Amino acid sequence: MISYKDLGLVNTKEMFKKAMAEGYAVPAYNFNNMEQLQAIITACVETRSPVILQVSKGARNYANQTLLRYMAEGAVKMAREMEEKLGCDEPIPIALHLDHGDSFELAKSCIDMGFSSVMIDGSHLPYEENVELTARVVEYAHKYDVTVEGELGVLAGIEDDVEAAKSIYTDPEQVEDFVSKTGVDSLAISIGTSHGAYKFKPEQCELIDGVYVPPPLRFDILEEIEKRLSGFPIVLHGASSVLKKYVDMINQYGGKLEAAIGVPEDQLRKAAKSAVCKINIDSDGRLVMTGIIRKILAEKPQEFDPRKYLGPAREELIKMYKHKNINVLGSAWRYGNCKNLEKEDIKL
Ligand code: G3H
Ligand code: 13P
Ligand code: ZN
Repeated sequence: MISYKDLGLVNTKEMFKKAMAEGYAVPAYNFNNMEQLQAIITACVETRSPVILQVSKGARNYANQTLLRYMAEGAVKMAREMEEKLGCDEPIPIALHLDHGDSFELAKSCIDMGFSSVMIDGSHLPYEENVELTARVVEYAHKYDVTVEGELGVLAGIEDDVEAAKSIYTDPEQVEDFVSKTGVDSLAISIGTSHGAYKFKPEQCELIDGVYVPPPLRFDILEEIEKRLSGFPIVLHGASSVLKKYVDMINQYGGKLEAAIGVPEDQLRKAAKSAVCKINIDSDGRLVMTGIIRKILAEKPQEFDPRKYLGPAREELIKMYKHKNINVLGSAWRYGNCKNLEKEDIKL
């Protein structure tokens, strides 16, 4: 049993309290490899943003669960070294979180190897089974001061039509019962976002100046939930904006992403000011990496040193994560002052 506290990690409790009080959302960025992790840490240290390093079940299988855990431990040390060089008077808080845990065993395994937070996603289960599974994880996690995120409502997929999507929004009438019966520390809800690069179909959108503008998120449902769970941290999954710049780059250099549509950044900015304390972003990072790598390999076909395309991809990721922290989530400049750090103004 390894305690996250010995790794320099924190759970999400204090992060969310501060985010709620100050009206911003903590970024939860997924990582599967070294370059993504380096970019997340660099961007968050250099914008003084708290961060949740997010590991999915797929990431654990891809990168090896033990290696990922050590990478996260290394990431904390990297952050502290950077902060020392920058002359910062306070560290940024870093949590290591299991994303979409689907069983008690998986959540327990993460808790036992040093994760500071876990999600147990029983949203696809019948309500009572979701309550039962989530409560079981909470009971174990809380013994070790690990925070737990539950989920109510199913995020719409591209295959769902509008009517089907409607029926799986979080039901505000269930939230108080779910939170009190399970004891979760935060709740992921469904208000119109979904995972991946195809969140909306073109026919659901308005075409304005060549850009598909999707219908707004269901802020009415969010408000109803906030009324019932006053001051309780809410989580938004599927919150990539599917940045046009990188979709276009992918398509320009041989890719084929047709009508990829995400959540407009102004919608996320609005959500971040509410009880939404954690915003999950994975796909935007994937698009940045793929776009830059495609561009470099197309322009320099003789290149075969991975550092020559992964390095620039990492640089672009840093820019994108900084942009999210500064301009979208509002999580930048929240932790301490650094003598040797200039505030940046990132425009993507
Ligand atoms: O919510 C899903 C995350 O984007 C993780 O995706 O399961 O492909 O690692 P993954
Ligand atoms: P995106 O696919 O929109 O990046 O969502 C990521 C997510 O919710 C991870 O849990
Ligand atoms: Zn998710």
